[in-house]
Amino acid sequence: MTIVQVDHWLRLAALAPSPLNTQPWRFRVTPAAIELFDDPARALPVADPGGRERTIACGCALLNLRAAGAAAGCEEQVALLPDPARGGLLARAVLAEGPADAALAALAPAIEQRWTTRRALRAAPLPPGLLPALAAEAAAEGAELLPVDGRAARQLLADLCAEADRLQHHDPAWRHEVARWIHPGRSNDGLPASRLGGRALRFLVDHFDFGGTSASRDEVYILHAPAVLLLATPGDEPRDWLRAGQALQRVLLRAALDGVQAGYLQQPLQLPGLRERVAAAFSPGRWPQVCLRLGLPVEDPPRRRRRPVADFADFVPA
Ligand SMILES: Cc1cc2nc3c(=O)[nH]c(=O)nc-3n(C[C@H](O)[C@H](O)[C@H](O)COP(=O)(O)O)c2cc1C
Repeated sequence: MTIVQVDHWLRLAALAPSPLNTQPWRFRVTPAAIELFDDPARALPVADPGGRERTIACGCALLNLRAAGAAAGCEEQVALLPDPARGGLLARAVLAEGPADAALAALAPAIEQRWTTRRALRAAPLPPGLLPALAAEAAAEGAELLPVDGRAARQLLADLCAEADRLQHHDPAWRHEVARWIHPGRSNDGLPASRLGGRALRFLVDHFDFGGTSASRDEVYILHAPAVLLLATPGDEPRDWLRAGQALQRVLLRAALDGVQAGYLQQPLQLPGLRERVAAAFSPGRWPQVCLRLGLPVEDPPRRRRRPVADFADFVPA
């Protein structure tokens, strides 16, 4: 594991998705291992008070690191939450030359091809065989991928999303938190906003309630997406969130290999009460972690906004 190699792997790890593109991870690289930490300075206390989504995002980054290592011919040893006494330490990965996980290595080329869409998807169905392949990727990390199929089920999910959209947009603290991550003058994290339109957008998001507009848009998205999927885990502890993140990233990368991209429908999972109703309807006995719509995108990928490795990694000499 050379410094140049690790620097490359960390750049790929940071291409993981995260809520509002907060990139809530830190890495500590020692000669023996790469440690992944939660970065609470990048928390979203209103939308994600327990840090569940932040930990899922860190799980996504960990999966990218593992896939990048496997593609470089490394064998992995990964421990989740290896030392509870060290607060914030989420995982320790040892990547050394050895028999690499071929399934993980096969996903690595998609790390740079995956991105999040916020527009309607093409109506074309998913490539044959893709859905079972995605379910297998989720299962490989101990999660389940459950399809939300049929008009009645989609409508119920749309109604739950609409309720969440209205509640969130009505809350000034939530609007303010989203607006804080729209950075017209900064290009390496947060949501895309042009220098010209960005300030206006930030002001509008902060001060006006667009709950009704978002609810109507999400209803169309949910009813017409080629696939709507719920990723669920048996438990709901930080270890489950890390597993969910790795499962999510495997699903997203496998889809991206076929040109299929995802949009998120997280709103009902961010509100207690609504999340339980989603579970009761679509994943009884399991915890819904992520809700996605999948299909071929209509637009070109946006320009990437990511921090440089030096911003989120410390290299500790022997
Ligand atoms: C746990 C999690 C929750 C997310 N929630 C949303 C969401 O509610 N709405 C949305 O548009 N994108 C959501 N995203 C996607 C991020 O906005 C996206 O990953 C980020 O802006 C970086 O862009 P990229 O995925 O195109 O690299 C979420 C991502 C993760 C990992």
